[in-house]
Amino acid sequence: MIRKCLFPAAGYGTRFLPATKATPKEMLPILTKPLIQYGVEEALAAGIHTMAIVTGRGKRAIEDHFDISYELEHQIKGTSKEPLLREIRDVIEHCTFSYTRQKEMKGLGHAILTGETLIGQEPFAVILADDLCDHEEGDPVLKQMVELFNRFRCSIVAIEEVPADQTHKYGIIAGEEIEEGIYRVQNMVEKPDPKKAPSNLAIIGRYILTPDIFDKIRRTKPGKGGEIQITDALLKQAGEGRVIAYRFKGRRFDCGSVDGFVEATNHFYEKYRAK
Ligand code: G1P
Repeated sequence: MIRKCLFPAAGYGTRFLPATKATPKEMLPILTKPLIQYGVEEALAAGIHTMAIVTGRGKRAIEDHFDISYELEHQIKGTSKEPLLREIRDVIEHCTFSYTRQKEMKGLGHAILTGETLIGQEPFAVILADDLCDHEEGDPVLKQMVELFNRFRCSIVAIEEVPADQTHKYGIIAGEEIEEGIYRVQNMVEKPDPKKAPSNLAIIGRYILTPDIFDKIRRTKPGKGGEIQITDALLKQAGEGRVIAYRFKGRRFDCGSVDGFVEATNHFYEKYRAK
């Protein structure tokens, strides 16, 4: 059973300066909801109630967001504005949040290892909040992955096909397709040049990891960009035949980029208007 979801949220969000100078990038809103709340709601929809957030300096707004604001509650109680707080109240009521700080930015693998103290020795999910996922019908993406974990009992990464000239932005996998959209991973490379990419199947920001990943990260040397990469640690599990890549059903927006952020905004605005 997957009980906990880890949110690496210590990054600086430099692509969104100056907006992210004093505001965590995870708090940038798509319509009226901050990115990280979409992620927490996706975890909740997958049956996960314990959120473990790896933060850093300047990220206090995240903690405040997932806490009760007594003054605000008091001010708007009984007014027409009260329903606007309904979703976040639900989240706060149904989840517990714990936080730890990543003191130095040494890569996604390092961020996940920093979260070990909050996760312990059990399989867990990871959501990168700036990859915003939506599903048209059926289950949200993380729920699809939890169901797959219950079948395969090993690490799972979400993948999607990307244009061949975009491989340098992602972890890229190669493997044997054992069922439609489900691959047993044999190779994975962090942000390869298109010429060196083993495929065009890119990892997006949803993972389920078995807890042996922590020791594997500890034994992973800095890789691409001098950072400790989760992709490199996962390759060690893949060598043991214990990583599945899953071409998820749904749509993902790269809200770490201005283009993706605007696309997501338009997409959710269309849905909002259609309601
Ligand atoms: C990270 C991972 C990469 C993955 C991506 C998904 O990269 O290192 O393997 O494809 O997230 O968003 P980042 O985007 O943090 O540079």
